[in-house]
Amino acid sequence: MKANFAYAVLLVAVLLSGAVVSISSNAPIETVDPRIEALLAEMTLAEKIGQMTLIEKNSIDPADVTDYAIGGILSGGGGYPRENTPEGWADMVNGYQQAALETRLGIPMIYGVDAVHGHNNVYGAVIFPHNVGLGAANNPELMTRIGEVTAAEMIGTGIYWNYGPAVSVPQDIRWGRTYEGYSEDTAIVSSLSSAYLRGLQQADLAAPDTVLATVKHFVADGGTRWGSSKTGNYQIDQGVARGDMNLLRRVHLPPYEVAIENGAQSVMISFSSWNYVKMHGNRELITDVLKTELGFDGFIVADWGGVDQISLSYYESVVRAINAGIDMNMVPYDYKTFIETLTIAVEAGDVPMERIDDAVRNILKLKLALGLFEQPFSNPDYLAEIGSEAHREVARDAVRQSLVLLKNENSVLPLSADIDEIFVAGKAADDIGIQSGGWTIEWQGRPGDITPGTTILEGIQATVSADTAVYYDKFGHFDDITDAPSTCIAVVGEMPYAEGFGDDPDLELAARDKRMLRRLAEVCDTVTVLLISGRPMILNDLFAQWDGLVAVWLPGTEGQGVADVLFGDYPFTGTLPYTWPHAVDQLPFEFETLSSEDVLFPRGFGLTE
Ligand code: GLC
Repeated sequence: MKANFAYAVLLVAVLLSGAVVSISSNAPIETVDPRIEALLAEMTLAEKIGQMTLIEKNSIDPADVTDYAIGGILSGGGGYPRENTPEGWADMVNGYQQAALETRLGIPMIYGVDAVHGHNNVYGAVIFPHNVGLGAANNPELMTRIGEVTAAEMIGTGIYWNYGPAVSVPQDIRWGRTYEGYSEDTAIVSSLSSAYLRGLQQADLAAPDTVLATVKHFVADGGTRWGSSKTGNYQIDQGVARGDMNLLRRVHLPPYEVAIENGAQSVMISFSSWNYVKMHGNRELITDVLKTELGFDGFIVADWGGVDQISLSYYESVVRAINAGIDMNMVPYDYKTFIETLTIAVEAGDVPMERIDDAVRNILKLKLALGLFEQPFSNPDYLAEIGSEAHREVARDAVRQSLVLLKNENSVLPLSADIDEIFVAGKAADDIGIQSGGWTIEWQGRPGDITPGTTILEGIQATVSADTAVYYDKFGHFDDITDAPSTCIAVVGEMPYAEGFGDDPDLELAARDKRMLRRLAEVCDTVTVLLISGRPMILNDLFAQWDGLVAVWLPGTEGQGVADVLFGDYPFTGTLPYTWPHAVDQLPFEFETLSSEDVLFPRGFGLTE
């Protein structure tokens, strides 16, 4: 390929020169990668700024990827191609890559996606439990395995950059992104997120089965205060976290330190503010703390239009964001204005060329480390792995380990698979979309048969004996069968949501679910509730009427894992990753002084029988 030829010539020239140079006269002698220096020396300002530009795939034609030498492209939540199949994804991503390789220097673009619970935008991919459930499982080995499987399902589609793990430490479960956090406990977040990162990246980023992880959202995204958000109708998402450096270092920074120790090479900046300073413009925390103090030497990416929120002046926003240490701007739409604005800022001296070169070095370093120059396209060998039975078994095991048994009066659980009849109620019992939650096929997720998988009801039906009668009614009406149903299971909880759309002041069950539960409590011999939710919910008096209660969280496509435990094939082992309040007015908890008597269930609670 012409462009690559130019790069190859450059490479030979520099290697022959054996260049080992200091970056500047007063810096210590540092070895720098001669390939990067060769490219950098060759690049125009336009090509450098192009590398720093990350565009949402619907907002740019491949021709402009070439003309503007765009460095990165992404699919936001739900950013699937017209044909939402693994092959359709591979064709789409390869098309953009081809355009990038046709630039003068042939630098490959890097394509990113939120594969936050499997390769979740892809129809047919395995959808894992969301992080709240994995926090309940609290198994680092399982996390590493999930990372490996997720990487394999991404590579078949040509995507080598995952915007995960989130290392948020959610402190107020009213936050719509609570389920993207593993726990309110910093140590659990650090342990599980770094294990997942190791699974995604393994020992060698250039290996054919690894992808680049992105640790997000830096920093204290989970520490914002209710009512502090200025984004749309959001209440707490993208709001303001307040505190001193002791709080930051105790609660929110450790997962980044651990991630860096485990090889993190990409960090995404948070929309939120720290003490009223927008994180996207926070040079003290991005450069002085993350890069200098913690020694992060990868590249830093903005969140979706997060740069724009810094100031009413776009010029000032761009200058502050890039000078704060952001290397790649997830614009994500108007790349021409971003490129033009940053060009003016560099030419005016408001953004030093050294900062541009530092950003481009960081980006090129990762593209080289990923082997993108050698293997820029999808690897078709991995297509067959997407949605494979072996991968689904990993997810089914994760579901089993994620379940938390919260009530078991008279040992109503486990149920016997030889039971004569069982009455299953609730629309969430037979809905892949509801049990998968947000970030599934669509950004916000949605109810319905949205992707292949096993619903909770299907899992129950597959587990009971051939002589067992399984009755299902989404509204819990069984009086056409009997006026005294024996064993009832009610699957209720939250409808899918993502980000600030899930900010919820009440955390209550829907009125129709409450009515159904009250009716079942009157007519059924026993009632076991399976709660599908991204966080603890307020159960109040309802809870007393139930015989059994299991927190199922957002299990994803492998609903069979629920039945595996419900009928005793596997034990209950999950424990609560978040404290469970009696009432919403207890939030946000003052964890330092909170006693377990003050709450419905303390973090770490979970019955085994
Ligand atoms: C979103 C999220 C971030 C995600 C990015 C790209 O707004 O804040 O977690 O990685 O945009 O989809």
